[in-house]
Amino acid sequence: MDFYSIKGNKKLKGTVEISGAKNAALPIIVASLLADGETVLKNVPDLQDIRTIVKVIEYLGAETDFNAEKNILKINVKNLKNNEVPYELVKTMRASVYVMGPLLARCNEADVSLPGGCAIGERPVDIHLSGFEAMDTTVDLEHGYIKARTPKLKGCTFAMRTVSVGATANLMMGAVLAKGKTTLENCAMEPDIVDLGEFLIKMGAKIQGLGTDRIEIEGVKKLNPTTYSIMADRIEAGTYLLAGAITKGAVTITKCEPDHIRSLIDILKEIGFNLSENKKSVSISGGKKLQGAIVRTLPYPGFPTDLQAPLLALMTTIPGISVMIETIFENRFTHVAELRRMGADVVIEGDVAVAKGVKELSAAPVMMSDLRAGAALVVAALAAKGETEIRRIYHSDRGYEKMAKKLTALGATILRKEGGTY
Ligand code: UD1
Repeated sequence: MDFYSIKGNKKLKGTVEISGAKNAALPIIVASLLADGETVLKNVPDLQDIRTIVKVIEYLGAETDFNAEKNILKINVKNLKNNEVPYELVKTMRASVYVMGPLLARCNEADVSLPGGCAIGERPVDIHLSGFEAMDTTVDLEHGYIKARTPKLKGCTFAMRTVSVGATANLMMGAVLAKGKTTLENCAMEPDIVDLGEFLIKMGAKIQGLGTDRIEIEGVKKLNPTTYSIMADRIEAGTYLLAGAITKGAVTITKCEPDHIRSLIDILKEIGFNLSENKKSVSISGGKKLQGAIVRTLPYPGFPTDLQAPLLALMTTIPGISVMIETIFENRFTHVAELRRMGADVVIEGDVAVAKGVKELSAAPVMMSDLRAGAALVVAALAAKGETEIRRIYHSDRGYEKMAKKLTALGATILRKEGGTY
């Protein structure tokens, strides 16, 4: 299995282009099932998760053509031939559950294996299911499968018990073709949801309130295929800023939306880094007097849980005490044990991690346990003294396009090597 070998302790310098957003592309690819004909998606990142979701829609009857070099995905939907997504396809990625919305909207039935996915806590799908139930769907759980049936999805008012990105996306995809009006309350306000909503509107959907916690959707009879460009990945953008920060380098990220990473920009300024921005770019360079910070992960526009791990990696090198409170997922500190192996001084108490900044991290053999934990190890290794070997990099392949190539262009010494049994 491939692994990364990173020789750290080198300032990163230069410019890096941000790829399309994985978490916007996934529901948008699935939403193409809502209309017959050819959808053309641009700025689709070439990632393992994208290839998995493409397999899922192919299984359901779509024909696809992915030009990975140009990041263009063409999807042709003629008629959906299956309404069932088997465990083999769902097990690696819980976003597969997104097919429920389009399948219920178009076929009135969906059989989806209960998802697997990242090893970060329980991650139930009860809100997705109770939302569809409120839209006149019967849901049974049998042999590991969700079996959902509806005479026809019916508009309703549904308040999510907690903010869920996935449930908001899934229910929106059902509601656009439902009978009557659906009002979703306590919605996710993430840019990924806005991007999905704008794609649906371009297909002919009637949606109001995107980017707020209350989304109103008037069901329409039919949607049309369209051409759409996926927004920039704010988590990838944040990760490269953090890589610049931890190496005390000077990094500019381009083709991004600075507003989407406002919470990170504010924290980095508070720690003491210099940040400047233009319409589509952000630059970071080392500050003079750096100090620890207290950060809490929250739904958007709060600080994203997906940047918690790489920010904590940075915090382990900032003088003084930093505190990270994880409020979205339990078990999301699996990177801490590995960071400790690299010399980090971090203690965990429940959902809180406290880091005492050390002068220097040192290389050690480490392993990724999930996608964002993996990003934390790469960020740490870039600053660590010596050569760090990072195993299980299939996790970061799920979410970071051409990571080694992009970091090399910034001056990092990172090699992707073959070998090893784990
Ligand atoms: C999405 C993102 C993921 C990100 C997360 C939070 C994708 C493909 N993944 O995941 O990268 O970390 O948002 O920003 O976009 N919950 C329930 N019941 C449900 C659904 C969720 O209890 O039915 C809970 C979850 O366990 C979690 C919280 O709600 O504690 C938020 O989860 P959610 O926003 O749904 O995350 P995902 O959509 O899975």
